[in-house]
Amino acid sequence: MVGFRLFLLTFGLIMFCGEARYHQHHRKHKHSSYHHDHASHISMPPSVPPEASAPSPDENWKEYMGTYDVRMFGAVGDGETDDTETFKMAWDSACGTDSGMLLVPYGYTFMIQSTIFTGPCQTGFVFQVDGTIVPPDGPDSWPKNNSRRQWLVFYRVDKMSLQGGGLIDGKGHKWWDLPCKPHKGANRTMLRQPCDSPIAIRFFMSNNLTVQGIKISNSPQFHFRFDNCKNVHIESIHITAPALSPNTDGIHIENTNNVEIYNSVISNGDDCVSIGSGCYDVDIRNITCGPGHGISIGSLGNRYSRACATNITVRDSVIKNSDNGVRIKTWQGGSGAVSGVTFQNIHMDNVRNPIIIDQFYCLSKDCANHTSAVYLSDIQYIGIKGTYNIRSRPMNFACSDAIPCTNITLSDVELLPAKGDVVLDPFCQNVYGEVQTLTIPPVSCLLEGTPRSVLENDVGYC
Ligand SMILES: *[C@@H]1O[C@H](CO)[C@@H](O)[C@H](O)[C@H]1NC(C)=O
Ligand SMILES: *[C@@H]1O[C@H](CO)[C@@H](O)[C@H](O)[C@H]1NC(C)=O
Ligand SMILES: *[C@@H]1O[C@H](CO)[C@@H](O)[C@H](O)[C@H]1NC(C)=O
Ligand SMILES: *[C@@H]1O[C@H](CO)[C@@H](O)[C@H](O)[C@H]1NC(C)=O
Ligand SMILES: *[C@@H]1O[C@H](CO)[C@@H](O)[C@H](O)[C@H]1NC(C)=O
Ligand SMILES: *[C@@H]1O[C@H](CO)[C@@H](O)[C@H](O)[C@H]1NC(C)=O
Ligand SMILES: *[C@@H]1O[C@H](CO)[C@@H](O)[C@H](O)[C@H]1NC(C)=O
Repeated sequence: MVGFRLFLLTFGLIMFCGEARYHQHHRKHKHSSYHHDHASHISMPPSVPPEASAPSPDENWKEYMGTYDVRMFGAVGDGETDDTETFKMAWDSACGTDSGMLLVPYGYTFMIQSTIFTGPCQTGFVFQVDGTIVPPDGPDSWPKNNSRRQWLVFYRVDKMSLQGGGLIDGKGHKWWDLPCKPHKGANRTMLRQPCDSPIAIRFFMSNNLTVQGIKISNSPQFHFRFDNCKNVHIESIHITAPALSPNTDGIHIENTNNVEIYNSVISNGDDCVSIGSGCYDVDIRNITCGPGHGISIGSLGNRYSRACATNITVRDSVIKNSDNGVRIKTWQGGSGAVSGVTFQNIHMDNVRNPIIIDQFYCLSKDCANHTSAVYLSDIQYIGIKGTYNIRSRPMNFACSDAIPCTNITLSDVELLPAKGDVVLDPFCQNVYGEVQTLTIPPVSCLLEGTPRSVLENDVGYC
């Protein structure tokens, strides 16, 4: 097998020949599990008999037939050689095969540049990451003609699964240190300068996606971004970046519906999950967030835009050592509505602002107030328990003067100071709703009923 790898290195360009033989070989001999057994993916020269002792799990056979190991196309995997072209070739083959699999083998690190992987693929396509994928190391190594806004992009791909036990490492450190970043107290005027950094993984206009098992670390910017996607299932993934890494949101979704995010762990320097405009039917369960900025709906309504989001549930989750717990943030001057949001059974551990609605969201200090706002209604907080950092209030509902928040309900809320005994009261501004069971601390500032301004005006059109 080592011999064959040398053969590949030496005659790297005879890859299609290799591919053909690979198929022929595996049609003849069933082979052992492909996970973590890197040697077995490279076809041996036909003269070498297969290991007789290898078990042949029949259920893997079908997938195995269409497996395209990137090394078959000449990928080197030493962490430095540019393997972009070989990944593209592997993509074309695997994506074009029924139940095809692009395999990134265990034990190798592949450097690939900013790439758009375009579908549609045949049904059942799997992008299997068992090894490690890295980008060029930092802005100085990023090719000038490559997009600086995105690294791995999946475009118009339906029914794809990105999975495996491997790592996608965004190598973000040099990007976070750019002088334009709000890093470690860098000065505020710098925030407004353009400061593009790539999103690690972006799905765009794709449907029926599964992301499962993989680890993603240290993205230069957001780790995942889904735009205009439908039916997204994310399960058992692990995202890590330092608490002080700027704008490294874990998962951002926008104009995307039918999203499930389950059983995952995210610690980073910005929102754990952020939900943008145009999202509905979002179900988040059993995720652990922190350190980071918590789970956020928004920011919405930036630059007078109309934003709509509805039917969003976050439950059975833990948020720890974070700047926020569950947050809804909107800009002054926007329009549209957020409704039907449930936060249920969430454990807070040393969180600032465990429950927060901020309709005055603003990145500088000088945003003007407007009479228009994104209308917030039908928001439930059920079983929100744990501790908060006393630097902030445990509950904060700052709603717009012109368009109050309505039907905000609280039950089973118990939030205690993580340490110290100076306790700040919950804060309410223009918020209507009901406390359904006694809360700790008590909330007595919700207004009853529904305000006229909401009943009489046509607010919250979506
Ligand atoms: C960038 O330039 C390199 C060499 O100049 C070229 O090979 C490559 O195809 C270009 N990439 C893009 C995305 O244009
Ligand atoms: C902040 O950055 C601006 C623009 O780079 C610069 O002019 C200003 O002196 C900086 N202020 C501080 C306090 O560093
Ligand atoms: C996605 O899955 C749904 C439900 O299984 C199915 O109805 C739909 O046709 C699929 N869409 C695509 C583009 O595969
Ligand atoms: C919750 O997710 C964790 C992984 O973060 C997993 O180990 C655990 O089994 C999950 N719990 C349930 C009930 O699925
Ligand atoms: C809300 O979303 C869930 C999926 O998360 C879906 O099952 C349910 O039907 C949706 N409810 C409404 C009223 O659309
Ligand atoms: C906008 O309104 C809020 C709440 O009423 C107030 O705290 C804030 O100072 C106002 N901002 C400006 C710029 O007037
Ligand atoms: C208040 O919101 C809940 C869901 O959060 C909904 O079931 C209920 O119908 C709403 N009540 C009114 C009066 O709109």
